Amino acid sequence: MTKQVKPGRSFASDNNAGVHPTVMAAIAAANDGHVIAYGDDPYTARAVELFRRHLGKDAEVYFVFGGTGANVLGLKAGTESHHAIICAETAHINVDECGAPEKFTGCKLLPVASPDGKIKVEQIKPLLHEVGFEHHVQPRVISVSQATEMGTVYTPGELHGLAKFAHGHDMLLHVDGARIANAAASLNVKLKDITRDAGVDILSFGGAKNGMMYGEAVVFFDQSLARNFKYTRKQGTHLPSKMRFISAQFEALLSNELWRQNAEHANRMAQRLASELAKIPQITITQKVEANGVFALVPKKYVPLLQKQYFFYIWNEATSEVRLMASFDTSEEDIADFVALVRKTIR
Ligand SMILES: Cc1ncc(COP(=O)(O)O)c(C=O)c1O
Repeated sequence: MTKQVKPGRSFASDNNAGVHPTVMAAIAAANDGHVIAYGDDPYTARAVELFRRHLGKDAEVYFVFGGTGANVLGLKAGTESHHAIICAETAHINVDECGAPEKFTGCKLLPVASPDGKIKVEQIKPLLHEVGFEHHVQPRVISVSQATEMGTVYTPGELHGLAKFAHGHDMLLHVDGARIANAAASLNVKLKDITRDAGVDILSFGGAKNGMMYGEAVVFFDQSLARNFKYTRKQGTHLPSKMRFISAQFEALLSNELWRQNAEHANRMAQRLASELAKIPQITITQKVEANGVFALVPKKYVPLLQKQYFFYIWNEATSEVRLMASFDTSEEDIADFVALVRKTIR
């Protein structure tokens, strides 16, 4: 079904936004002559170098087309098919990837309850009672989303706790960082503080939700995990031939703190949207607004009326909870216009 969005910018998804002008200019600038395909080019070399400046010089960086591919291939690198991957029940890998992680890794996902999108060490412990018993899948990866699908953010300490627990039980910590920039901006920390230095082993580093056209990176902090990745990426259909155009986008994003500016802006707009909506008595904000997502209970009968003007997703039909996302290009006027419509509609 085509969702006709009336205003220029809606709050449906940070994926609905266009491309940041600096990133677009970088794509155009990269459109110059021939370079070697499949990543053996100066754009890719510079982008990988920038990643290493942000994440540590031993980071192994591989570019891929999209986030599902980054998750699936990163997880595959750390697992065998008798393993299990522990994740939040709300995790993108659990609910929004059409079973791709299970299909390509062969692993069973073990989702745990996560009202705020986060998982805690205490929830993982009971899943380890059959370790070593061949009738049961063997937990091998803890996968968390940072920022989470519920717009919350793990602190460096929380990640460190999960990593320590994982490593103490022969497991790995995987981070779905489709919104890692929003998380780092929210915490006001360096990217390294919530990845390498927090003990993360495998990271999907997002680009598309933070102003890129497309492209994500799989980053390994333990080089042995990357051993066969160049083959896995190709078999997994994620080796971009014209890689320079992904690399050029990452170069733009990771230079001059553009990644942080975009994410800070999106986060600030989400805060503003939430605080305006919270003033409307019939609306309840349901989650802490720590990144660029706002979750709110909106009386059911008004939802279709609002969606006619501004498409957005219903997160929970039963409770009439909706999800609103801000992006790098959300403006204060967008919020004022939307809130005015909400006020006019909900009487
Ligand atoms: C948390 C999270 N992970 C991963 C993805 C990657 O998705 P895609 O394969 O559409 O790039 C998304 C996209 O919505 C997401 O929200």
